[in-house]
Amino acid sequence: MKVISIVGARPQLVKLAPISAAFAGTKHEHVIVHTGQHYDANLSDVFFDGLGIPAPDVHLGIGSGSHGVQTGSVLAALDPVLEREKPDWVLVYGDTNSTIAGALSAVKMHLPVAHLEAGLRSFNRRMPEEHNRVLTDHCADLLLAPTDEAMRHLAAEGLAERSELAGDVMVDICLRIRDGVAAGAHPAPALPEGIDAAKPFLLATLHRPDNTDDPERLAAIIDSLAALPLPVALLAHPRLVARAEAHGIELGRGSVHVGEPLPYAGLIAAVLASSGVVTDSGGLQKEAFLLKRITTTIRPETEWVETVRTGWNILVPDPHTMDPAAWAATVTRAAPAADPGTPYGDGHAAENVVRILEEWKGGSQQA
Ligand code: UD1
Repeated sequence: MKVISIVGARPQLVKLAPISAAFAGTKHEHVIVHTGQHYDANLSDVFFDGLGIPAPDVHLGIGSGSHGVQTGSVLAALDPVLEREKPDWVLVYGDTNSTIAGALSAVKMHLPVAHLEAGLRSFNRRMPEEHNRVLTDHCADLLLAPTDEAMRHLAAEGLAERSELAGDVMVDICLRIRDGVAAGAHPAPALPEGIDAAKPFLLATLHRPDNTDDPERLAAIIDSLAALPLPVALLAHPRLVARAEAHGIELGRGSVHVGEPLPYAGLIAAVLASSGVVTDSGGLQKEAFLLKRITTTIRPETEWVETVRTGWNILVPDPHTMDPAAWAATVTRAAPAADPGTPYGDGHAAENVVRILEEWKGGSQQA
């Protein structure tokens, strides 16, 4: 069996790591295509080096652009690659512009497409990720769902026959790296200047267009972080840095200490060192849950509803409208006492994915 993984943005590289490791133990051929959606070393190269992923077989070098330009460029560049490689499966990951472009390119060439992390929904149609994941699910042949909730969404949309519960591959990698951090296998993370990892601090990230692109809103969210009573390590995504610079918003003020995005092991170590997380990232909400750190999510909804139901994650869409004392109490609250269980699987999801791809009969035959 020949499988092509199409990846391009940071969270997809994290998911690629366990999949690539699972294929390495088989006789199957696994080809990696990097679209180049993310190109800065700290959003791309460090994940290949740090997570032991083989270098991409093909790099499309697409880069940044508007949604149409970015998606369309990937689509055009993939045609000759898929034509040449003729894989048995095209595997697309998550919900970025690289995901929808990969799925669309493959389906138009009558190649079977599997969608990893299928069935997630925010029901917020302002999010580019929501368009990407819904459209990808509806054009893919096989939907690899991470959770029961995702399976329910797929069934509700008439996609049950194409859906399989695989578990969440992020558990595989997160727990593996957590154990490596505990064993001292990774260097200490490069936290922002002014953050002392031995003292309580919060870890923060912010990159969603709904939070970064309106200057008034971005300034108000940074004000809320700056007013917190303990230091905040803000790992700044390039989108955040670009938008703050464009609008003359100073990120590093008050309690906020700004640093660069971290490699994966560094991020896991930083979460473990922190007292809690404030974020709008999907991946980080789940990583914090798996590492047993409380999360406050600056969004009106989340796809990872299990983190909220178990009490580990609280949604605060507009921190700047809260009473400052209540906001501070929220981000520093105590962790829930009850065992959250394992809603994301047991850490063997990547092996499940390989097995399902091997066994799936419906794929290429489906209309
Ligand atoms: C993308 C995904 C988002 C995911 C996020 C993870 C889409 C629609 N969005 O958002 O789902 O959560 O990745 O990080 O696919 N930039 C750089 N260097 C880079 C990459 C980007 O400086 O290597 C800057 C550019 O100014 C670019 C901006 O970041 O315009 C946004 O990048 P883009 O890939 O369009 O979306 P993300 O915000 O990273």
